[in-house]
Amino acid sequence: MAVSGAETRAVIGGVHVVPSILSADFARLGEQVQQVLDAGAREIQVDVMDGHFVPPITVGALVVEALREQMAAAGAVIDVHLMVERPERQIDAFAAAGADHITVHFEATPHVLYALEQVHSHGCTAGLALCPATPVSAVEDVLDEADMLLCMTVNPGWGGQAFIEHSIPRLRRLRALAGPEKPIQVDGGIDPATGARCRAAGATLFVAGSAVFGAPDPGVAFRAIADAVGESCA
Ligand code: DX5
Repeated sequence: MAVSGAETRAVIGGVHVVPSILSADFARLGEQVQQVLDAGAREIQVDVMDGHFVPPITVGALVVEALREQMAAAGAVIDVHLMVERPERQIDAFAAAGADHITVHFEATPHVLYALEQVHSHGCTAGLALCPATPVSAVEDVLDEADMLLCMTVNPGWGGQAFIEHSIPRLRRLRALAGPEKPIQVDGGIDPATGARCRAAGATLFVAGSAVFGAPDPGVAFRAIADAVGESCA
């Protein structure tokens, strides 16, 4: 872990923009991450893709390990989004590499409860992600085990996709089901405009890749979304 479990819970319990490194310049990843940390980012998302659950292959636990020291120095949360089949086979490695939070996909394993319990066994907070076509009712029986719910606002696999409009009513239904306190993260096509709409519909964590790292100044772009969603004070 980069930070303590209590610090992670405090961060995911707030309102935060979560830059995703998927769209960062990997030739200078540390520099790009520092730009958003310096702008106030409290959490960074590492998008892990295995070429099976989604077609692309991205990064493994090595990248989490490479970011750990820098993130710990900033007191920022490493959020790992596992877009992989059978995530329960990968959780140990990402926890050992330094993940503070790990999100698994409901659609990626028959053993969702086991996977969430496995994340907790490492002291990490656990997230449950739903693809855009998965009924929000899927989370009903694991609301106590999922510290955070991720409502995908694009089909997982790529950055720079268009925001899916039916995400807004889905978010409202998910918020009604989960209750007022549960952290709800959105991911995909998030910019100041879609972020503000998702905030109004009940989201509290806003993953943004291309809108941040695709901008000339990622720190300025981060602050624009943070201002639009009402980012919690540090
Ligand atoms: C799944 C990934 C992306 C990424 C954000 O595809 O999880 O959603 O984090 O992508 P942007 O912000 O570029 O849509």
